[in-house]
Amino acid sequence: MIPKIVLQLKGLNKSFGGLLAVKNVDMLVNESSISGLIGINGAGKTTLMNCISGIYRADSGSLDIMGVSCLNWSPHDIARLGVGRTFQIPRIFKRINLIDNVMVPALNDNTDNKTLYERATECLDKVKLYDLRHNNAEELSGGQQKLLELARIMMFNPRIILLDEPFAGVNPTLCRLMIERIKELKEQGKSFLLVSHDLTSIYQLSDHIYVLNQGQVISEGNVDYVRNDPEVIEAYLGNA
Ligand SMILES: Nc1ncnc2c1ncn2[C@@H]1O[C@H](COP(=O)(O)OP(=O)(O)OP(=O)(O)O)[C@@H](O)[C@H]1O
Ligand SMILES: [Mg+2]
Repeated sequence: MIPKIVLQLKGLNKSFGGLLAVKNVDMLVNESSISGLIGINGAGKTTLMNCISGIYRADSGSLDIMGVSCLNWSPHDIARLGVGRTFQIPRIFKRINLIDNVMVPALNDNTDNKTLYERATECLDKVKLYDLRHNNAEELSGGQQKLLELARIMMFNPRIILLDEPFAGVNPTLCRLMIERIKELKEQGKSFLLVSHDLTSIYQLSDHIYVLNQGQVISEGNVDYVRNDPEVIEAYLGNA
């Protein structure tokens, strides 16, 4: 069966002044699959994600989400298409408790409060933050903030999920928990673009991997292909 494409970029460019941070990038994400995106620091991964989620305006190219041409739409219109994301530096609401943080994506939901509250606590339970549910988010460690963002994504329940460095600062046990949650969401039909420096996790999760270097895709393919590609090895070790 031919996989259904849920997200497709063609010829995407984004510059900051004289710096071309994303150069002519073609990329796609299939339904119920995980596309991994790797590359050294400054390769352009977050910039690319910001262009997809509408935070940055791309200079040129095209973006199709669920068959809708939507390059440079506003972040909330992209979210309405069914795209959720987490941030490399977590964006949580520090002065409110964890349940309220997780409830935020459901503010416009017509479902009754009790049901939403129960769903929010379930989402927190799934990332082992249930016991802290009444604490303010400012009390969380960096790794726990990553978990809170994942819980919020689960509450939002988008079809396409963009994760920027979800494992950074998370201890190995909780990393394994996150990996299990991501796999479960994929089994439920969610599609992912996953950025990470944690190559072990990326290789474990991804159906297809893109490698960015200086804004360009220098390699793409399945895990075995990419991890043995001399260009990828050179890009990582050559810059080490
Ligand atoms: N808002 C901005 N203004 C100017 N330059 C920027 C901006 N955002 C990113 N850049 C530049 O674009 C390039 C790509 O940065 P980006 O954050 O996308 O890299 P990255 O691959 O996510 O790196 P890391 O692995 O460190 O998170 C870098 O040279 C960076 O300095
Ligand atoms: Mg980044």
